[in-house]
Amino acid sequence: MKTLVVYYSFGGNTRTIARRIAKSLGADIAEIRTVKRYPDDYDVLVSLGKREVESGYVPQLYPLAVDIAEYDTIVLGTPVWWYSFAPAVKSFMKSVSWKGKTVYPFATNGGWLGHTPSDFKKALRGATVCPVLSVKFDEKTLVTPEKDIDEWIGKIK
Ligand SMILES: Cc1cc2nc3c(=O)[nH]c(=O)nc-3n(C[C@H](O)[C@H](O)[C@H](O)COP(=O)(O)O)c2cc1C
Repeated sequence: MKTLVVYYSFGGNTRTIARRIAKSLGADIAEIRTVKRYPDDYDVLVSLGKREVESGYVPQLYPLAVDIAEYDTIVLGTPVWWYSFAPAVKSFMKSVSWKGKTVYPFATNGGWLGHTPSDFKKALRGATVCPVLSVKFDEKTLVTPEKDIDEWIGKIK
């Protein structure tokens, strides 16, 4: 059965980890993209993100480049936005029927994962949800040891 790595990334950290996982597994990869561009100014983005996460906003997405129905194992990556997954990932999860799928979530962050793991469990109802990999960055620099990431990848079946 096929494995898909699907991710959203604003600044590139989550993309870097998604590519590493896809390469290591020989899996397909697809990016979640919002129709509306987020602002480049980081402070503006952070406060807009707060409003969106707190209000449960679901941004409109471009169609995914692959048919998710063809995959039963999904590695799902998000940056942490205000202690949860990014709104784009919320939109994506709402658009998929999760029954029968196994999901390996990972979340890049600056050290505050918050309630991302329990939010994933709730949003992925019907799926088997595996333990979340938290990948810490200091801005663009990876802080989590690479061996921790590789160990987690090694558990993906
Ligand atoms: C709107 C916004 C909210 C964020 N909230 C958190 C947070 O709650 N906890 C945390 O550790 N990092 C937070 N961050 C930092 C990002 O999670 C971190 O930089 C992540 O690696 C960015 O991934 P990306 O480069 O793929 O977009 C936030 C960043 C943004 C833009």
